Amino acid sequence: MAIYNIVEIGDEVLREKAKAVPKITRNILKLLDNMAKTMYSARGVGLAAPQVGISKRVIVVDAGEGLLELINPEIIFAEGEQVDTEACLSIPGVTGEVARAYTVHVKYLDRYGKENIIKAKGFPAIIFQHEIDHLDGILFIDRARSVTKV
Ligand code: NI
Repeated sequence: MAIYNIVEIGDEVLREKAKAVPKITRNILKLLDNMAKTMYSARGVGLAAPQVGISKRVIVVDAGEGLLELINPEIIFAEGEQVDTEACLSIPGVTGEVARAYTVHVKYLDRYGKENIIKAKGFPAIIFQHEIDHLDGILFIDRARSVTKV
């Protein structure tokens, strides 16, 4: 396993619409493993493949309840609102206040190619929305009501 370099704002890959994964290959499994390792190494709670320079629809999340690996994640339900402070490994030294849905349901494929739906509320729901935004080239500063340098 390897730790990837995390690309930072200014790199075009962060602004691209990432491509769906058509088939779960050994390379995709390796990507998942290395993304998890990279996320934990950086003490992040979520990481999207474009943040390691790979424009594919893959995210990893750990909101404190264990590792979740999502391939082709899609928000199929969103409800309510919450405003919280966000940061991003690709935008060092900046936080922002962002309004997000309070509850989301996310459909995705797991590493075995099985379709699942995860229901999240509160902090984990924020992470899913933030990471899935990365797959569409959207950064939290695009949505922030205010931005602070830290
Ligand atoms: Ni981010």
